[in-house]
Amino acid sequence: MKLIGKTLLLIGATSDIGRATALTYAQAGWDVHLVGRARERVQREADDIGARTGKAIMVHELDILDTGRFEAFLSEVLPLPDTAVCVIGELGEQARAEREMEHAAMVMRTNFEGPALLMGLLAERFAARGSGTLVGISSVAGDRGRASNYVYGAAKAGLTAFLSGLRNRLSKAGVRVLTVKPGFVRTRMTVGLKLPPLLTAEPQEVANVIFAMAEGGKGPDVAYVRRIWRPLMAVIRSLPEPIFKRLRL
Ligand SMILES: NC(=O)c1ccc[n+]([C@@H]2O[C@H](COP(=O)([O-])OP(=O)(O)OC[C@H]3O[C@@H](n4cnc5c(N)ncnc54)[C@H](OP(=O)(O)O)[C@@H]3O)[C@@H](O)[C@H]2O)c1
Repeated sequence: MKLIGKTLLLIGATSDIGRATALTYAQAGWDVHLVGRARERVQREADDIGARTGKAIMVHELDILDTGRFEAFLSEVLPLPDTAVCVIGELGEQARAEREMEHAAMVMRTNFEGPALLMGLLAERFAARGSGTLVGISSVAGDRGRASNYVYGAAKAGLTAFLSGLRNRLSKAGVRVLTVKPGFVRTRMTVGLKLPPLLTAEPQEVANVIFAMAEGGKGPDVAYVRRIWRPLMAVIRSLPEPIFKRLRL
């Protein structure tokens, strides 16, 4: 068992990307706190990672919509982690979000309000200590609103902007704030979707990018997982609205 005396807080432990990320950190010798909304399922992940790495994995229950519990939750997570990665998200159904305001609100709150408020609280604690790395998982969907998923995309755009502002404010306080835009990833979230192989990453690829950005010293603050997304999204962002509104993307 590797011992390096560093601690990861992984928020969204039952996600495919979260599971791969937690395992990557534990294999590198980190202690890991796993967080999810269903303790039993989080415990199963903890048992699996513990068995594979020999590390003691701590388990916490938190629903990201339960913002009133965030302060109490953070006081449970001791010591204050060195790195926190929040992967919680919910794609939802665009057509349903157009009809049902409650569904739209759940998608917005799960992808933006909850993760942003929780990472904001963590950032204050990191700033008070003078160190810490925060990683938020946003999306290419937040780079430009598209007909097919603009409720999810708008929430991710909010998260991207929030993380950008936090980074801008705290870069001199010893706090690193990183944004990862995975592009398509083969996970539970995209089951049943026809994904183009060139644009589609595996959860482990995302985990590797997160670990390299967060723990590899200097590097970009914002990254797409597969590099091809950068020029592709530059083109999509630059299309004039009169052309863009005629496309079905
Ligand atoms: N897959 C992709 O193509 C893709 C592309 C771009 C960005 N992303 C982003 O990557 C992140 C990870 O997604 P994934 O692909 O790994 O999907 P996933 O396996 O469906 O993971 C989603 C995670 O969010 C958690 N979650 C949802 N609502 C929650 C709530 N109210 N409280 C606590 N946890 C909640 C889920 O918990 P439960 O297990 O309890 O449901 C699950 O752990 C998300 O932020 C997603 O938006 C994914």
